[in-house]
Amino acid sequence: MMRKIILGVGFLLAAQGAQARSVWDGAYTEDQAARGATSYQQNCGRCHGANLSGTFEIPPLVGRFVPYWSGTTLDVLVEYISQAMPLGRPGSLSPAVNADITAFILKSNGFPAGTKELGTSASDQKAITFDSMPPKKRAKAR
Ligand code: HEC
Repeated sequence: MMRKIILGVGFLLAAQGAQARSVWDGAYTEDQAARGATSYQQNCGRCHGANLSGTFEIPPLVGRFVPYWSGTTLDVLVEYISQAMPLGRPGSLSPAVNADITAFILKSNGFPAGTKELGTSASDQKAITFDSMPPKKRAKAR
């Protein structure tokens, strides 16, 4: 039920313009995700797990993570990571490292790589919608 409502918000955001980009259009590059993997293991893996699956007390960054964040834009996720993580020393990573780690999280959730890196500017990140389903499946589900 909750999931349906969250996805509904995604439809609205996606419908805002033909120009709208989503995480299915390639929001990061393979090189960036590889850098992000290293930074993730250094700064996040201790808590969220080497395979991002979390623990009983710490939320996973794969699986239910996607529907949970779906319907937002990427700036929301990057801003959360930038301000709240890594827990214990929040805000200690650079904007570039946070973008790289976000790229790694996207890759880990099966979103495709593209030719352009995920940038550090909030307005660029805001132009990319975080949708849990690819556009075709979304259209069918309607
Ligand atoms: C010391 C342990 C710890 C470290 C290190 C840590 N996290 Fe977290 N993280 C948590 C906990 C605990 C939560 C849940 C926080 C809450 O519910 O307020 C969380 C929540 C999150 C969430 C929200 C997940 C959701 O769906 O609710 C994201 C995204 C996240 N962390 C990313 C990161 C990233 C990226 C890093 C590394 C830069 C990182 N975390 C490092 C413990 C940690």
